[in-house]
Amino acid sequence: MTGVAHRFTSAAAAQSAAIKRVTVVGGGQMGAGIAQVSATFEHPVTLVDVSQEALDRGKQYMGKSLARVAKKKYPEDPKVAQEWVDAVLGRIEPTTNLAEGVRKADLVVEAIVENIGVKQRLFGDIAAGAPEQSVLASNTSSLPIGRIAEQLNGTRRQNMVGLHFFNPVPQMKLVEVVKANETSEDTVARALEFVKSIGKAPAVCKDTPGFIVNRLLLPYMMEAIRLLERDVAEARDIDTAMKLGAGYPMGPFELCDYVGLDTIKFIVDGWYKDGEGLQGNNLFAASKKLDELVAAGHLGVKSGRGFYDYSKK
Ligand code: 3HC
Repeated sequence: MTGVAHRFTSAAAAQSAAIKRVTVVGGGQMGAGIAQVSATFEHPVTLVDVSQEALDRGKQYMGKSLARVAKKKYPEDPKVAQEWVDAVLGRIEPTTNLAEGVRKADLVVEAIVENIGVKQRLFGDIAAGAPEQSVLASNTSSLPIGRIAEQLNGTRRQNMVGLHFFNPVPQMKLVEVVKANETSEDTVARALEFVKSIGKAPAVCKDTPGFIVNRLLLPYMMEAIRLLERDVAEARDIDTAMKLGAGYPMGPFELCDYVGLDTIKFIVDGWYKDGEGLQGNNLFAASKKLDELVAAGHLGVKSGRGFYDYSKK
């Protein structure tokens, strides 16, 4: 083990109990993915959202994704495959009651809307109900972990960490473990053990905008959009170039559409305005093309159209 991760070995993890019970707040694609993967690796999971409808959507997403995994796991036996899916789903308890949902959690992972005020209020509510020693984690992709935790008490701030998953969660192996200024080494060690327990590989990093992956990915996406704006090449050719010339699984426009153009705009606008050390950085300056697509509601795969048209697929 090298680098930052080296400083947080399992010796520190021994100080506190390992994470068993996981509560995920937010049943969208990321939250459902985190709940699914945790349950796949035998953690009892509680999934909290504000409405039964949102929980049902999360369950539907997990069911479909698990069916894909099960088909590969038990290719010869659809009945056993279905039993496996049912067993994993059976470890996930859905609820709309946050206080009840966090009451026994060893780890609470938040995966809700990217709004600092909403997240701060949610963590206030989580802190009111979760055991004092619980690890509290945010799956934020662009907001500072330290700011999300700033209104919590000292112990809670030490127990707060970033756990940043990637889409599609069941398939992507990485989880960034983000250490804010006040995050304790014990918390980082417990988070690392949890990440490994769900079959993922952790990368530890400091609490700076975009952490590692998005800090590199967003300039790449924005530069691709600017190539298009300067009419250097068509989107399809830029995508082909990066897939076949650089070995990326998706080209930048396929990836933008997959992540969501509103998400990308939200992140770069936020960093350009007040991202620590990034204010006014031209890498994140607004793009007319991106702004127009978002204003027209062309948000990518989820809306049926972004840089590409998905409505006929
Ligand atoms: N659930 C379970 N398994 C899934 C899945 C899902 N939702 N989606 C894909 N898979 C599995 C498939 O079953 C398949 O498994 P196999 O190789 O064992 O057969 C494998 O993933 C590949 O899927 P497909 O064959 O259907 O399609 P592709 O080969 O085109 O791969 C992809 C799809 C995995 C999405 C691939 O294109 C990829 O890796 N793209 C890049 C994704 C990426 O960069 N994600 C990060 C985005 S940034 C982010 O999330 C951060 C946020 O903060 C913005």
